[in-house]
Amino acid sequence: MMSTSLLLLSFLLAVTAAQGASGFRICAFNLHHFGASKASKNDVMITLARIISRCDVCLLQEVRDSKGTALPKLLETIKRYDKQNKYEALASERLGRTESYQEQYVFIYRSNTVKVTDQFQYPDNLPGDEDAFSREPFVVRFSAPRTSIKDFVLIPQHTTPTNTTKELDALYDVLQQVRKMWKNENVMLLGDFNADCGYLAKKNRKHVRLITDSSLHWLIPENTDTTVKLTTSCSYDRIVVHGERFYRAVVPSSAQPFNFQQEYRLTEEQALDVSDHYPVEVLLEVVSSRAFNGVISFTSSFAVFQCLSCIIYHLILL
Ligand SMILES: *[C@@H]1O[C@H](CO)[C@@H](O)[C@H](O)[C@H]1NC(C)=O
Repeated sequence: MMSTSLLLLSFLLAVTAAQGASGFRICAFNLHHFGASKASKNDVMITLARIISRCDVCLLQEVRDSKGTALPKLLETIKRYDKQNKYEALASERLGRTESYQEQYVFIYRSNTVKVTDQFQYPDNLPGDEDAFSREPFVVRFSAPRTSIKDFVLIPQHTTPTNTTKELDALYDVLQQVRKMWKNENVMLLGDFNADCGYLAKKNRKHVRLITDSSLHWLIPENTDTTVKLTTSCSYDRIVVHGERFYRAVVPSSAQPFNFQQEYRLTEEQALDVSDHYPVEVLLEVVSSRAFNGVISFTSSFAVFQCLSCIIYHLILL
């Protein structure tokens, strides 16, 4: 009896330790023309739900849901797929220079691990550099008590390929404004930056403050392939962290693309039906999970119970 309980206890401890080690996952995923057409394909929606439900916070890009039905359907699919967590979505307005081509940034997050505490649509009216972006960042501040950093800001960006150098440099101005506005140094910039191959020439990098400023850490290594097509290999999708404190709150070497084609054994064609990009992701250190605290209190009440029973036992014997 006793040894069974002990076994159970050590099993529980092992399980929660493993869960704790998995960290708090932040992802960025370019969904490549996500709208009614993709939403009508059941297998695509299930794969999207599998991918997105791995993340505590997932930034979606290229959401082109003109009828406004695809996103609610995706959220429903995710909720049905993962009933262990609660999910909510926060979407920007439709952004773009022309009426005919607009995209939304969408954050899907687990409301049981993270809360939205503020949001800010960048107005893109910096004197002398008005309208720098096609898709102005929709900046969101989060509170995640389980993480060691607790409170952080995400700045999303899907650059226009032909204007990559300019837009990446302008992101630096957004960063400064957000730091000042919210008095918060814990800022992450993420998304499909098109920061590679033909779109970001090596010789132009020295003009991009987001690259040259040493307070910024580019977490996805230079030669990483974030594209699905076998014939392309480019590090388009990136995660950049501002400040030493935030950098230290990241699980070392955890930033990587998630190769869902390999992971879910899809053909290239099946994977491309989902997106032409892999998501990129990073883990934040967690302090202690609620499950772990649960085991601690279980352990201590178990100990108290044992102690009581042995006292009673001795009292009876005496
Ligand atoms: C590139 O940026 C300039 C100015 O910031 C803008 O006028 C132009 O339309 C942009 N190009 C595209 C393809 O969006």
